[in-house]
Amino acid sequence: MLRHIIVPEDLTAHEIEAVFAISKDLETKYDAGLREPLFPGRVLGLVFEKPSLRTRVSFEAAMVHLGGAAVFLGDEAGFSSSRESIADFGRVLSEYVDVIVCRSKAHETIQSLAAVSSVPVINGLSDYCHPCQAFADLYTLRAHVGRLAGLTLTFVGDGNNVARSLAVVCGLLGMRFVLAAPEGFQFDEAFRSHLRDILPNAEIEETTDPVAAVQDTSCVYTDVWTSMGQEKERLERQQAFRPYQVNTALMRHCPDALFMHCLPARRGEEVTDDVIDGSCSVVVEEAANRMHVQKGLLAWLLGQQS
Ligand code: CP
Ligand code: NVA
Repeated sequence: MLRHIIVPEDLTAHEIEAVFAISKDLETKYDAGLREPLFPGRVLGLVFEKPSLRTRVSFEAAMVHLGGAAVFLGDEAGFSSSRESIADFGRVLSEYVDVIVCRSKAHETIQSLAAVSSVPVINGLSDYCHPCQAFADLYTLRAHVGRLAGLTLTFVGDGNNVARSLAVVCGLLGMRFVLAAPEGFQFDEAFRSHLRDILPNAEIEETTDPVAAVQDTSCVYTDVWTSMGQEKERLERQQAFRPYQVNTALMRHCPDALFMHCLPARRGEEVTDDVIDGSCSVVVEEAANRMHVQKGLLAWLLGQQS
């Protein structure tokens, strides 16, 4: 069956665990210098409408490690432009490649691409969500704490694409999720209602109080206050989020917690240098794990096709 990963809940908890197991096995082999060409001749197509370091390079490297190749398609390819329809683009591209990763401005663009693609489409970030980021983040957290069920992850900042994805994956894997955000930047009613539908028993909380939110947490997570595409709101957002900076004063309320950030970071805004460069920070490992977990995801998807 053709599987797309457009939102995190496109995988069940059981399937996320299966992907993590493959990822761990391939990570161990990679660390030992082994890059088994499990999928020779397979091609990954990357269609990106926004800039990227981590998502692009980690997917490209993962596909090469698996024995395949990656083709990056930026603006010149004419995706989602007046050059041709998304339907024509997607139907043709999926004749050439075995998997597509798409980073789009609008979530609906990825949905339209998946609707016509004859190969799996993976969301490499949209304005709505960033599933691969959340999978890698919880893989990283488990590597440190040894388990996930029963832990709390606190997101301090904008209730954005990354926060939404973490809320869902925490819910799927039995974790409590807390969002600390100012009024107007918390989850919207449509997403809250969706969470109640897909995860009726999940512990997902929202507050405006960052200090209360980090009590007893295992991980403090933040992301930029102004995401790609929101640049016009930058000044308004800087003012609204100022009390939500993750700094040493906030981290004193949870001395055993890890610090995570999807990167890129705006140092001095959502996080201070002493926290992101401090001993609780795992941001580089988190970025490195994007490659290991996406390799697991590619191997899981390609394994189902063969
Ligand atoms: N975290 C993340 O997705 O980074 P990029 O925007 O560099 O891909
Ligand atoms: N929320 C950020 C995440 C970047 C990885 C953005 O969408 O720009």
